[in-house]
Amino acid sequence: MKKIVVAIDGHSSCGKSTTAKLVAKELGYAYIDTGAMYRAVTLYFLQNYIDVADDHGIKKALENISVTFKRNVKTHRNETYLNGLNVEDEIRKMYVTDKVSEVSVIPAVRHAMVKEQQKMGKKRGVVMDGRDIGTTVFPDAEVKVFMTADVITRAQRRQQELLAKDQMVDLDIIIENLKKRDHIDSTRAESPLRQAPDAVLLDTSHITIDEQVDFVMDKVAAKIFTK
Ligand code: DC
Repeated sequence: MKKIVVAIDGHSSCGKSTTAKLVAKELGYAYIDTGAMYRAVTLYFLQNYIDVADDHGIKKALENISVTFKRNVKTHRNETYLNGLNVEDEIRKMYVTDKVSEVSVIPAVRHAMVKEQQKMGKKRGVVMDGRDIGTTVFPDAEVKVFMTADVITRAQRRQQELLAKDQMVDLDIIIENLKKRDHIDSTRAESPLRQAPDAVLLDTSHITIDEQVDFVMDKVAAKIFTK
């Protein structure tokens, strides 16, 4: 069967990664969480006191950063490794989330990540979620979905995810963070968050995860079963 690239872009916390993971599982494809890559770079910058204005420091840092994914055999989830160390939980913490948009506007960071992502999807057979997959990383992706949802719904979902990890964060703080990230992500000069002209819009405010997955799988089936 023909292997394709499924690009899932959209706003923060509207269910992209949950949908992408399930679609990848159904298809037997690799799932690549590109947000985790930007989060891992952000963690490295924070740990090594790299200033976002220090071009030279950033260039050197990028030469020393390797972000990889490995499957946890016990939990069956894909986990993020920064230079060989498992950082899956650390990169989801609020202090990283607060800084990640600032780091992901840096052109050198984007170039390095986009290059890696293109390598990871070279053989196709991947589901990739992010902000610029359908526009910049794989403009030739066979399926492009742009996901969104109203900000309150997104914040409530995010709060539940954090609570499940024993992190209590005020809803107002989460709303503020989501709005700030949306703004930075969609106004940056380099590959901003925007819907590709050929992407289909999926508003997840009032639908279930199963419905989201079915929606994407329908688009996939239409591509896989046509010559
Ligand atoms: O998907 P996420 O919330 O984990 O992503 C974290 C941040 O990374 C997000 O605020 C914007 C950035 N990002 C990006 O700029 N480009 C991508 N392809 C993926 C994420």
